Amino acid sequence: MDIDQSDTNFLLTRFSVLIIIYAFSLQILPNSKLPIAVFLLGMSSSLYKTKAFSWIVKKFIQKDINSDRQDLINAVQSFQMYKDRALGWNKRKYGNLKRISYDDYIQAKKIGYYDHLTKTDKAIESNAQLANAIAKQTIQNYGITDLEIRSAVYKDNSRVIESLCHFARDWTSMGDVELKPLFDYILNNLNKTIPGKEERSKTVVLVPGSGLGRIAHELSLLTPKFDAVHTIEFSYLMHLCNEFVYSKTQSSESYKIHPFIHTYSHHVSEENQLRSVEFKTQPTKPQNLTTNYGDFRKFQIPNLDKYDNVVIVTAFFIDTAQNLFEYFDSIERLIGEKSGTWINIGPLKYGTAPKVEFSLEELRKLRKLRGWKDLDEPKPYGSEISGYLTDTKGLWQGYYGLGRWTSSFTSKKK
Ligand SMILES: C[S@@+](CC[C@H](N)C(=O)[O-])C[C@H]1O[C@@H](n2cnc3c(N)ncnc32)[C@H](O)[C@@H]1O
Repeated sequence: MDIDQSDTNFLLTRFSVLIIIYAFSLQILPNSKLPIAVFLLGMSSSLYKTKAFSWIVKKFIQKDINSDRQDLINAVQSFQMYKDRALGWNKRKYGNLKRISYDDYIQAKKIGYYDHLTKTDKAIESNAQLANAIAKQTIQNYGITDLEIRSAVYKDNSRVIESLCHFARDWTSMGDVELKPLFDYILNNLNKTIPGKEERSKTVVLVPGSGLGRIAHELSLLTPKFDAVHTIEFSYLMHLCNEFVYSKTQSSESYKIHPFIHTYSHHVSEENQLRSVEFKTQPTKPQNLTTNYGDFRKFQIPNLDKYDNVVIVTAFFIDTAQNLFEYFDSIERLIGEKSGTWINIGPLKYGTAPKVEFSLEELRKLRKLRGWKDLDEPKPYGSEISGYLTDTKGLWQGYYGLGRWTSSFTSKKK
């Protein structure tokens, strides 16, 4: 472990102050144990506040903590730290103003830039109400202790920001434009392939990489109803946000989210950058919907015997694969001996160290090779486009061409 410089400075300062207090109080109370008790207490509380203490707790006391629990704790702490880290980032913008000449500073102030920075602080505080509420709810639901929080490992703010922005995409009117092409394609094809009440009562729907869960939510509301819809998400940040959506079913709560404040680039105006949208928690959780934390490659379908059909819906997901063959294997394993349908919609923006990076055409060939039968693949291939957490009023907007297919699969072993 690296010895943290701020720990050393902090301990040295505390030690110096305490030793002075000790020497002074010894003069007044020469025969008392109080001075040494105060000294020891002071030193213990100082040690408790260091980063090294958290490391020791993690290393020697919570040795048995499993990595899922650690991920959970890291996620909670990341939500708790959102405000300080975001304010710290914005503070550096104030700091940059000190690096320009006084004349330039006065001009920046006259055009309202200083106020703009101040308003961003306020918007961060507003976002933090949601981040803190998620942390509080999770601590309560999962019985997380203070000691566990102290063993959290530092993560940067980017994933928290991404999760907060997902509320705007998934659960507010701002996201309608991005979600519409997804809903249209998925719901249309589901209605075509498994339309009847009887079939749906024997169908389980899985949504791997479900993010904040809006797609799964809509699927669970379809009529006739599917017997069960499962989200499967292995980022705790995303999963906890998804759980939070359903956490206040007694009295719906609302939060103001400013999704575009985390960069000063690409903005037309301060007003656009700071605009907010209202997110309301859901009054009820659909009774056939289960939100699962975990890696879909290890997921086991509960009550599998009940089902004739397994539907897998992947949206903005398959390009997360390090090894696409593993995703195919897992999807086919989940279908097992049942009748399988796979509806996919999303880009091919391969991410973390992919072993293969297939084009839409190669994916089509691969499905055929493995025994999938395409029921639908709209042409021209990849022509439908959609944004993903994009600021439609910004100077930079990102749109993805969407690979879409609906395929069926029946195991040869059947
Ligand atoms: C680009 S996001 C899309 C989220 C969601 N489908 C949507 O459209 O809003 C991909 C998600 O897949 C999750 N993910 C990646 N690999 C996964 C795996 N093996 N099992 C479960 N989730 C996974 C990531 O954590 C991330 O939340």
